[in-house]
Amino acid sequence: MSEKSAGEVQKDILRPRLEPPHVPLARVLVNLPRMMANPIKRFNKYLQEYGRDFILSVGGSRRTHFTINAEVIQHVLQKNHKNYHKSAIQTDELARYLGRGLLTNNGQPWLTQRRLIQPGFHRQRLQALVAAMQTVINEACAELDAAAAAGERVILQDVTRNMVFRVITRAIFTDGFDEEETNQLKTTMDTVQRYVIYPVRMPFLLRFLRWSGIEGKKLALTQEIRVRLQQRIQERRAGPPQDDLLQMLLDSRYEDDGSPMPEEQLIDEIMILFAAGHETSANALTWTIWLLLQHPEELAKVREEITAVEAAGPIDFESARQLTYLTQVLEESMRLYPPAWITDRVALEADHVAGYDIQRGTTVGIFFFGLHRNPDYWDTPAAFRPERMTASAKKNRHPFAYLPFGGGPRLCIGNHFAILEMQLILARLLQDYDFVMPEKAVGGR
Ligand code: HEM
Repeated sequence: MSEKSAGEVQKDILRPRLEPPHVPLARVLVNLPRMMANPIKRFNKYLQEYGRDFILSVGGSRRTHFTINAEVIQHVLQKNHKNYHKSAIQTDELARYLGRGLLTNNGQPWLTQRRLIQPGFHRQRLQALVAAMQTVINEACAELDAAAAAGERVILQDVTRNMVFRVITRAIFTDGFDEEETNQLKTTMDTVQRYVIYPVRMPFLLRFLRWSGIEGKKLALTQEIRVRLQQRIQERRAGPPQDDLLQMLLDSRYEDDGSPMPEEQLIDEIMILFAAGHETSANALTWTIWLLLQHPEELAKVREEITAVEAAGPIDFESARQLTYLTQVLEESMRLYPPAWITDRVALEADHVAGYDIQRGTTVGIFFFGLHRNPDYWDTPAAFRPERMTASAKKNRHPFAYLPFGGGPRLCIGNHFAILEMQLILARLLQDYDFVMPEKAVGGR
């Protein structure tokens, strides 16, 4: 950091040193089991009691400035992002399972990979993936029809997870995995992802997980996936090129020396695309349908729009853009239930924002769920109102009040991909099927 002038030092002395309220350690410890069971509920409780910014420390270490303040969040994620890195849990710990790639790196290695991979996710490039997405959706719907014909009940969450996983698999490997292998890959990936939550939510269990051998077993599973991915990559190198994300990664070259991505790095990035691009979209789809079931007027309006757009032919890349109301519904659903509900950053140097001092080494906990329901930015925040997401309503809001895909340079790289696949899947599911609430079942229409 640069040396401060005498005037700046004077100003610093005069400026009041503000800290948000602290949640007392005793309260944190007493509430630990509740926090573990339902962290969103506990954070909401603290917000009610301590305000939009508060400090939470466990055992004197890992001091966290917790916030739902758009000004603080914009500063950390965008304006002064160079001063903030993701925490060790989001990088070193996660990297043990997913490898070192876009999601799990900081600083220069992150930037180098981001520059390399970004063009592959450009909206126009996604056009090439629409046919593959449609094929997968048709296949999954055929299975759904067969299940409905047999009178079976299907759980919506299983349907969306299954569809989304197939979409991401086919988008990366147009030609790679058959049905059986895709299912195996999904089961293994699900097991690993479910497990990864433990060390992230309960870091103090880490030692136990290691000693007990549980961690070793999960790491062996990730190794299994890596070996399979490597085989597929090598087959592709030996065969004809395809129009998919793998090809984009294989063809990309580093700016400085024009070299291709090393194979281990390539596998890391693919692992990350699978992990980051699977559960999030599935959860958004499930919440959206769940909300629509409780709002029949909005559901009818969405169906009307789909019918009108489909009148000109099956929905494709271009016509998906005409699904404006459906997209508003989807966006409003991600406001109420953001699939990525929290993230963090650690301050590399001391900082000052929105009247608060942020000490060096402080973790800033960015609680997207609370931000999306912060009454400073949202009128009757708990109400489902798709009209909040019209273009004009968006213009009148703080730019960092709504961040389902994050913000600043680390904005989700798959945001356009996710919106497109969700538009296609929703259009199909809502048009062709009825959903039943109490049993959470779905049957043919
Ligand atoms: C509804 C679906 C999705 C949601 C809500 C979502 C949300 C997010 C958020 C909030 C971040 C930023 C995290 C942070 O700043 O700490 C992020 C990053 C990321 N997402 Fe997504 N995501 C979704 C879908 C996808 C898809 C489909 C892909 C890939 C195909 C993907 C790949 C990534 C990657 C690689 C990053 C890290 C980017 C970087 O740090 O440069 N996401 N996502």
